[in-house]
Amino acid sequence: MIKNKLIKNSKKIDKFLINYLKKQEASSLINPMKYGVISGGKKIRSTVIFNAGKIFNLNQKRLINICAAVECIHSYSLIHDDLPCMDDDSIRRGKPSTHIKYGEASAVLAGNSLLTLAFEIIADKNYSINPKLKNEIIKSLAFCSGHTGIAGGQELDLKFENKKKSLKQIIAMQKKKTGKLFNFCLYAVGVLAKRNSKEKKFLSTLGEEIGLLFQFADDFLDVKGSRKLVGKPIQKDNKKGKSTLINLMGYEKAYNYANNLKKKILLKLKKHGKKAKDLSDTIKFILGRNF
Ligand code: IPE
Ligand code: IPE
Ligand code: MG
Ligand code: MG
Ligand code: MG
Repeated sequence: MIKNKLIKNSKKIDKFLINYLKKQEASSLINPMKYGVISGGKKIRSTVIFNAGKIFNLNQKRLINICAAVECIHSYSLIHDDLPCMDDDSIRRGKPSTHIKYGEASAVLAGNSLLTLAFEIIADKNYSINPKLKNEIIKSLAFCSGHTGIAGGQELDLKFENKKKSLKQIIAMQKKKTGKLFNFCLYAVGVLAKRNSKEKKFLSTLGEEIGLLFQFADDFLDVKGSRKLVGKPIQKDNKKGKSTLINLMGYEKAYNYANNLKKKILLKLKKHGKKAKDLSDTIKFILGRNF
């Protein structure tokens, strides 16, 4: 069952991060950082990385630093996303958001520190991969996280509130705020598997589409999900005037759009045959999930 796999992967990543932080000098930001990244969250991006690694017979040991780095960046983006200046949400992963628990300043700084920790984890000398590949991975992670990725997408998400935006604009915004990190997940696997540029491009695009599908599902859960299962406030997107597919075309049409995207993604994976089974299962879970 996918849920068991998610739990298993979460434990692996949490263990890695706890050990990593243990080796570092103590600081008063460690607690809010741990609060934001450990023991919580589906760690779906790590699962996608492991699934994609399976297609190319990559050992999990070679992928774990990439997973941990991605989870640090994802958690940083959520800590900031919940701040009063952004979505202003007080509950995350079933507990008070980081800024509620530790105050806004510590939440901002813990978020920043998780962002930089991600790069430290990949650049670490104990992560022994070919330096050229490492450089390519670091460059892509920076591109997918900054103004051309998550941060840029988050800026658009907020600027689009209470504005009439086209389908194209909404998709472009969601591809940035959520798609780009999934893009990185698959691209990094392609780099480690020493694929050629064409295949790496294929993986990037596929990752971005998986991320877009993931954001669609998140928007559906905001409307029809259970607050308890998702562990965060629901029915807020409409109140905030968020530009989503649902607000643009209604739930049903938006769902059909998402379902077609899912089919398109699954079709693209066909060429990898049985080795892509786990990734296909995760993609089906992404749209069908209730948490
Ligand atoms: C929520 O992400 C925010 C989006 C990018 C849609 P997740 O649903 O992956 O959050 P956690 O990590 O499981 O809490
Ligand atoms: C968040 O999107 C996307 C990020 C990159 C952080 P949302 O604002 O919809 O995520 P939730 O619903 O608060 O988790
Ligand atoms: Mg948001
Ligand atoms: Mg939010
Ligand atoms: Mg949401």
